[in-house]
Amino acid sequence: MINGKTKVLGVIGDPIEHTFSPAMQNAGLEFLDLNFKYLPFHVKNLSQAILGAKSLDFMGLNVTIPHKIAILDCLDKIDKVAEMIGAVNTVKFEENEDGEKIAIGYNTDGYGAVRAINEVTDVKDKKVVITGAGGASRAIAFQIANSGISELSILNRNYKKAANLSKDLNNNLDNFESNLEINSYELSDLDKELSSADILIDTTPLGMFPNIDDKPIASSEMMHENLVVNDIVYTPKDTSLIKEAKKAGCTTVYGYKMLLYQGIRSFEIWLNQEAPVDVMEKALLNTLGI
Ligand code: ATR
Repeated sequence: MINGKTKVLGVIGDPIEHTFSPAMQNAGLEFLDLNFKYLPFHVKNLSQAILGAKSLDFMGLNVTIPHKIAILDCLDKIDKVAEMIGAVNTVKFEENEDGEKIAIGYNTDGYGAVRAINEVTDVKDKKVVITGAGGASRAIAFQIANSGISELSILNRNYKKAANLSKDLNNNLDNFESNLEINSYELSDLDKELSSADILIDTTPLGMFPNIDDKPIASSEMMHENLVVNDIVYTPKDTSLIKEAKKAGCTTVYGYKMLLYQGIRSFEIWLNQEAPVDVMEKALLNTLGI
């Protein structure tokens, strides 16, 4: 029930109509009987929206396309990993010692992918191969580089983008918790890189509906059975890459799990309590229709 004590959470983006987050977040809030509502907001003027959210005593926001980078200029504080990534998808509003509202930015996208992979294998000391070098790749690369892995290879169609990302990561080596080797390659080197890899994360849109036959690899023969394969595409659930990986006997991680765990982490940041994963997963799958 909505009453005078109801607190507001939400997601801001432009457009916002297709967001899956309200279904997932409200399912979790309702299950725990918390007096919060999570709403979608179509936002064009970002700085005014953040000032408004502070004045209206919002508890937190998710931030989606196209505001994930521009939001940095509207924040009072930023988490270390989010700062390295240079993008924020979660904002928490708090009061500082002077009683002023402040906005703190986090990035839970990379966390989402790493937690999904950690469910099936401990990423510690593993060699990770990431295909793609866009926004999603960057968030995942910084998070996983900070999760105790031993080696990271970034491969991209446009090699320059992979090289730039690898350079940014290498410039931050001192901030990571362990020593690791980070390299960039052409996408055509995937076969060679996969032979010594433990984990493959495909961040390209290859295989996304309606182009469901596309994939970054030629066939299952390029994959060995000890490889863990995560495709961040979630429609369809079983992408062409995931199907080939299953054929090769690999352990697979569905793309929707990254969405799930980025939302779980946001929930935990806002509410300082564990989120009901099963309930939120069911709601997410339902709203995605997969
Ligand atoms: P996102 O925010 O989802 O990461 P993005 O920033 O547009 O999206 O990045 C998409 C990534 O997928 C890029 O690395 C892109 O490669 P290029 O830099 O060469 O464009 C990659 N990608 C997109 N379509 C691709 C395709 N058909 N084959 C290979 N890589 C592709």
